[in-house]
Amino acid sequence: MKLSCGAVVTGAVFALTLGVRASGGAPQVAGQQPAGQQPAPAVPQGPLAPEKYKNIQVLKDLPADQLDGVMRFVSASLGVNCEFCHVSVPRGEWPMEKDDKRMKQTAREMIEMTRAINAKSFEGRQTVNCASCHHGLQEPSRIPPLAVPFTPEQIAAAAARARAQAAQRPAQTPAAAGRAGGPPAGAEGRGGPGGRGPARPAETLDQIVDKYIQALGGRPALEKVRSRVMRGTVTNRAGQSLPVIVEEKMPGKYRLTIETARGPEVRASNGSAAWVQNAGETHEVTTVFERQETTRLVDLGRALRLKERYQNLAPTRYGRLDDKDVIIVTGRTAPSVTEQLHFDRTSGLLLRRAISTRTAMGTLPEQIDYSDFRNVNGVKVPFQIVRASWGYHNTQKFTDVKVNVPVDDARFDLK
Ligand code: HEC
Ligand code: HEC
Repeated sequence: MKLSCGAVVTGAVFALTLGVRASGGAPQVAGQQPAGQQPAPAVPQGPLAPEKYKNIQVLKDLPADQLDGVMRFVSASLGVNCEFCHVSVPRGEWPMEKDDKRMKQTAREMIEMTRAINAKSFEGRQTVNCASCHHGLQEPSRIPPLAVPFTPEQIAAAAARARAQAAQRPAQTPAAAGRAGGPPAGAEGRGGPGGRGPARPAETLDQIVDKYIQALGGRPALEKVRSRVMRGTVTNRAGQSLPVIVEEKMPGKYRLTIETARGPEVRASNGSAAWVQNAGETHEVTTVFERQETTRLVDLGRALRLKERYQNLAPTRYGRLDDKDVIIVTGRTAPSVTEQLHFDRTSGLLLRRAISTRTAMGTLPEQIDYSDFRNVNGVKVPFQIVRASWGYHNTQKFTDVKVNVPVDDARFDLK
C-alpha cells in the first residue's frame, strides 16, 4: 500500500491533491449498484479489501476498489481528514494499516454499530450511515437545533425559495422537498403529469442541449476551440487566494495548477492517465474515486459531447438556483456517479453540476458552479468556477482567458 495523502492533510489549503495512491493492480470500475436510494449490498467484483490491504478487520466483504470511496465518505461524514484516524508521515507513504490512533478503533466500533442498527431496525438496508448522526461533525450533537434566524435578507430569500418550490412542485411530498438538491437518485422516475412529484420539463433533451450550444456561441464556433488557457486566482473558504492556471486541450487534456508557497499543486489528466503533484511529489491517481474526480474537471468540449459523456441523460424537473429558473437534466458518468446539470431556462447556459458519488457506505456530494460568462473569440467562457465538496470550497476567478494558444502536450503527461 503506497500512499501519499496530499493537501488536506499536510496543511496545504486548497485540497487539490488529496492524493491517494494504491498499489497492487489497476482498480476496476466500482462494483455496480442498482439505481435507487438504497444501494444493495456490494456485489463482490475483483479482490476484496482484506486481499489488497494489510489490516482490515471489519470491512471484510468490501470490494477492494471501493475502500477509497468509503474512507472519503467516513471523512466527509465527520468533517475530518484522513489524519484524524491514520498515522501520517511528512513525505511519501502513509502507513494506513497502523492502529496507533484511538479514533481508528472507535471508527471500527462505529461501523459495527451502524451495521447492527441497520440489521435490527431497517431489514439490513443501508438506511443509517455515519452522516445520519455526525452530519459533518466529529461529535454528533445531542440537542435538537434551534431554528436560527439569519439576516433579514437570508430570511426573505429562504421564504421566496420555499414559495417558488411550492409553486413548482405542487404534488411533492414534504419528505421529497427536504431532499431537493440532495442525492438525485430518487429524482428520476418521480415526475410525470399526475405522478407523485414534479412535472417533467416540457423541453426535450435535444432542445436543451441545442440551446446550450447556441448560448455558448454555436456549434461551428465551439468546434474551432482546440485549446484554452485561463489564468486568475483561486480563493478558499478561509479567504486565502493564490494564483491559478487552468490549461485544457482537445481531446480531454486538463491541467489545474495552483502556485502555493511550497511550489505548484497540480491535478492533471492527459485523457488516459491522471496524476497529482503536491509538495514536489508527483504520483499517478489510481483509485476509482480520484480518477473520476479528475476527469470530471475536463470542461473544454463538454457542450458538444454531452450525450457521449453522460449515460441515461434526461430532463428530470424544473428548479430554482439563486434567483434563476433552471431545468435539471440528470445523467451518469459511471455506474456510481450521477450528475444533475442545471441549465438556465432563460439563457440556456449550464450553471451548476451537482455530482453524487455512491460509495458502499453512502453518497458523497460535490458541486461545480459556472458564472460570469464572457465572450472570448466568439465563445462564452465562465470566468468564475466554484467547486465545493466536503473538504473544500474553492472559487476560481479568471482575469485572462485565451483560446487556441499552443499548449505543449507534455504539460498533461505524468513524468
Ligand atoms: C474516522 C476514521 C477514519 C478516517 C477519517 C479515515 N479512515 Fe481509513 N480506515 C479507518 C478504519 C477503521 C480502517 C480499518 C477498517 C477495517 O478494519 O476493516 C481504515 C483503513 C484504511 C485503509 C486500509 C489500510 C490497510 O492496509 O489496512 C486505507 C488505505 C485507508 N483507510 C485510507 C484512508 C484515507 C485515504 C482516508 C482519508 C480520505 C481515510 N482512510 C480516512 C478509519 C478511518
Ligand atoms: C447512531 C448515531 C451514530 C452513527 C450512525 C455513527 N456515529 Fe459515530 N458517534 C456517535 C456519537 C453519539 C458519538 C460521540 C460518543 C461520545 O460522546 O462518547 C460518536 C463518536 C464517534 C467518533 C469519536 C469522535 C471523537 O471526537 O471522540 C468517531 C471516530 C466516530 N463516531 C466515527 C463514526 C463512523 C466512522 C461512523 C459510520 C460508520 C459513525 N461514527 C456512525 C454516533 C453515531
